[in-house]
Amino acid sequence: MKVIGICGSPRKGNTEWMLRKLLDEVAKGGVETELILLRKKHIKGCDGCSSCETGGANRKGVCRIEDDMQAIYPMLLEADAIAFGTPVYFDMLSGLLKNFMDRTCPVWPKLESKPVVGVAVAEAGI
Ligand SMILES: Cc1cc2nc3c(=O)[nH]c(=O)nc-3n(C[C@H](O)[C@H](O)[C@H](O)COP(=O)(O)O)c2cc1C
Repeated sequence: MKVIGICGSPRKGNTEWMLRKLLDEVAKGGVETELILLRKKHIKGCDGCSSCETGGANRKGVCRIEDDMQAIYPMLLEADAIAFGTPVYFDMLSGLLKNFMDRTCPVWPKLESKPVVGVAVAEAGI
């Protein structure tokens, strides 16, 4: 059993602290955990080429952008559950996490059955 956390904060702050706390609790039950800090990754924006969906040039389920996302795709597929964390920015998720989510396009049909939890950290309440 493995749970991965995806931290969408651009700084080492409250969101990362919350996710680490959550993963530490999960680990007490003997579950393997891993935290991915998006602020330390080089992940370009989805360019909407749609080849991962349409299968152009045999690219169905594969993203043609070569960056840190390529190492994360197998981690998402192997995870039994995923914990997303974001600071609240203008009542929404952070740009870092939205960018990441856009790039899950090639694998999201395979992620649909996985349990997902979300942690959102705000200053004034949401
Ligand atoms: C650009 C920006 C927009 C923000 N918008 C909101 C908001 O709409 N509502 C709110 O309660 N806090 C807002 N905040 C405050 C953050 O959500 C809060 O400081 C949070 O703890 C940041 O998470 P972090 O410590 O992981 O960076 C905003 C902060 C920034 C930098």
